Amino acid sequence: MADNIGNKAAHDYHLDIAPAQEGFYVKGAAHSDWGMQNRLSRIFNPSSGNTVMLAFDHGYIMGPTAGLERVDLVIPALAPYVDVLMGTKGVIRSCIPPTIPAAKCVRLTYDSTVLYDDMSNGGGFSCDMENAIRMNADCVAVQTFIGAPGESRSLELLCRTADASARYGIPTLGVVAVGKQMERTERFFLLATRVLAENGANIVKSYYCDGFERVAAACPVPIVIAGGKKLPEPEALEMAYRAIQEGAHGVDMGRNIFQSDCPAGMAQAIGKVVHEGYTAAQAYEVYEEVKNRN
Ligand code: R5P
Repeated sequence: MADNIGNKAAHDYHLDIAPAQEGFYVKGAAHSDWGMQNRLSRIFNPSSGNTVMLAFDHGYIMGPTAGLERVDLVIPALAPYVDVLMGTKGVIRSCIPPTIPAAKCVRLTYDSTVLYDDMSNGGGFSCDMENAIRMNADCVAVQTFIGAPGESRSLELLCRTADASARYGIPTLGVVAVGKQMERTERFFLLATRVLAENGANIVKSYYCDGFERVAAACPVPIVIAGGKKLPEPEALEMAYRAIQEGAHGVDMGRNIFQSDCPAGMAQAIGKVVHEGYTAAQAYEVYEEVKNRN
């Protein structure tokens, strides 16, 4: 068994060599079944290879988060500007019209709420695969607590989901949680993202960090970055730009879109960075233009 003392440090990420992905454009999915590749094509734009996922699952632990007080008013209006809507079964069913063409990523796990604030048991299943299929999910998401007390249980939930979703050709999104006591270092994200991919995640949601290009290179499946707490728009766009330039395949962003002064402008600006390679400054002009028009 591998141990954590005396190991030779990983160092050679071959950053100048593209990953082997003959036959299909999504990283790590060249040998997947047709159904899996078809769903991945709904998530990752075939032209850019990247995705804008809009996360609005915050209420499952936080209740009515700022900006998401009325999901039914906010999220459907943003759907035309994103590739994927990520939420819980309860809110997708109750607030998102089924006629919306964006792909859906359904969260399958619950965690402790902010009132109890104890992630040590690693959470549990909030939605089973049959229910996700009934909702026509294009992707299912599981939160993991790497390096924290809930690690073992959350990895079990990930492994069980990855096996069940593979049976039906549905990609699993493994979410790297960063709790209060967890590091946000290159070393942590290298380990956490790789562990999730090794345990079957087809897509990994993580955070941007210094050294991100090594994190992305060492992860055999696409990484999408979360936005985290609300930043000024230019900073959020800069973070997204750097992440894409350093190997991320998109964002799974929430608060930096729906808490913006102009969520539609921010969603469109992020889309320009993710799909068209705009710099943060160029994308900010798009944001301002949409904001001034509204
Ligand atoms: C985290 O577990 C949730 O999936 C959030 O939806 C996620 O953190 C993305 O939201 P934000 O960009 O607001 O951090």
